[in-house]
Amino acid sequence: MFLDPNYIRNRIRTVPDWPEPGVLFRDITPLLQDPRSFRVLIELFVYRYMNQRLDLVAGIDARGFIVGSVIAHELNLGFVPVRKKGKLPFDTIVEQYQLEYGSASVEMHADAVRPGQRVLLVDDLVATGGTMLAGMKLLQRLGANVVEAAAVIELPRLGGAQAIREQGLNLYTVCQFE
Ligand code: PRP
Ligand code: HPA
Repeated sequence: MFLDPNYIRNRIRTVPDWPEPGVLFRDITPLLQDPRSFRVLIELFVYRYMNQRLDLVAGIDARGFIVGSVIAHELNLGFVPVRKKGKLPFDTIVEQYQLEYGSASVEMHADAVRPGQRVLLVDDLVATGGTMLAGMKLLQRLGANVVEAAAVIELPRLGGAQAIREQGLNLYTVCQFE
């Protein structure tokens, strides 16, 4: 299969003024809806990570679940969720992070990862990077070796990719939107 990142980029829909005026929302639903582009997307990640000796894939609530769980399945790995606060039933650890206005929290089960496990952290999009960094911190608190963060989309102007890299975590994204 011809794995061209532009094939992915061309299937992302831009919705102006959503969820508020002035925002250009990058919507991955047309990409997921089309079987060929969904498969190309997953194959891009699978070829990148198939020889990385990963132990687990962690995906971030909610769109990181869609992409991350399929990558895990294709790589024959387990999947662990990084969830929005208040959704996980067992013992949890929590990380708070800043939003443009206010803050949010993500949680993981305390037994989701064993120390030393090599984990790939996946989300759909990196904007300010706060969500991905909170996921990284949770995994590191559990002793994981976070091998890389991966996302479908990066918005470089919001500085998230740089912030993630400044924290020493490598970030791979399939496409960028200025
Ligand atoms: C979006 C996106 C990422 C996050 C990126 O999720 O799916 O998880 O924002 O933003 P950041 O880099 O500035 O942290 P959202 O909070 O909209 O949640 P949802 O997936 O539940 O819609
Ligand atoms: N699309 C999806 N999620 C987002 C975006 C976007 O453009 N910006 C911040 N989170």
